[in-house]
Amino acid sequence: MTTLHWILATVALALLAAFAYLYAVTWIESRQARKLEGKQPYASASADTASSSRTAVVYFSRSGNTALAARRVALRLDAQLFPLQAPSYELGMGGLAHAVMDANERRSKPEVLPDITPRTIDLKRFDTVWLGSPVWLYSPAPPIWAFVEHNRFDGQHVVLFNTFNSHIGDDYIATFKAKVMERGAKSFEHKSVLRGRMTQQLTPEQMLQAIDDEWFDPQAKP
Ligand SMILES: Cc1cc2nc3c(=O)[nH]c(=O)nc-3n(C[C@H](O)[C@H](O)[C@H](O)COP(=O)(O)O)c2cc1C
Repeated sequence: MTTLHWILATVALALLAAFAYLYAVTWIESRQARKLEGKQPYASASADTASSSRTAVVYFSRSGNTALAARRVALRLDAQLFPLQAPSYELGMGGLAHAVMDANERRSKPEVLPDITPRTIDLKRFDTVWLGSPVWLYSPAPPIWAFVEHNRFDGQHVVLFNTFNSHIGDDYIATFKAKVMERGAKSFEHKSVLRGRMTQQLTPEQMLQAIDDEWFDPQAKP
């Protein structure tokens, strides 16, 4: 084989390995999302609860973990749930590739934001707004930044909550806080749940227990 053949073979192998990795990740994500969908159902549709609730939980979730956390928060606080959709990041290889590329682009161009639905929500009647998101490249994912950019939080207490596998950048949380305060919030808090790396993650039940213990009953911990 000539040198050129060796180079081509190496490039082909590297591409194959990258494809196999992406394929494995999306397979795990899709299986996880299906498993999580039916867990901890929560309907905030009851007109009574909906009109009297003073807490909103707005969240984006790609593979269902933040959605499960959001349902737990809503259940604990009798809150109104508002899921955000971001069509660019649907489950599958295309969505994963967009997620990585957009999260990476926002590092140098924070003004670049994805389309989300709904873009705005009338949050005026709430005292507290929880904003939920996975962490992508150490930062809350682009859809929750887009939501903050398009909405106001005048006089409200905002709680950012994240699910993540291994690491969050504190500088991104500080920037997120500054953005929320700029959009009118009176105070800010950050909560997160560390799920662990892909092969050694918390089960959904362990994640919910961690949320109960760490976010709601910290004094109950031994
Ligand atoms: C594109 C992408 C980038 C990610 N980057 C990070 C990261 O920097 N740090 C981390 O701890 N987890 C990272 N994760 C893992 C997710 O934050 C974690 O699995 C999260 O719980 C997924 O939430 P979801 O199921 O609600 O989408 C990343 C996931 C994706 C898809």
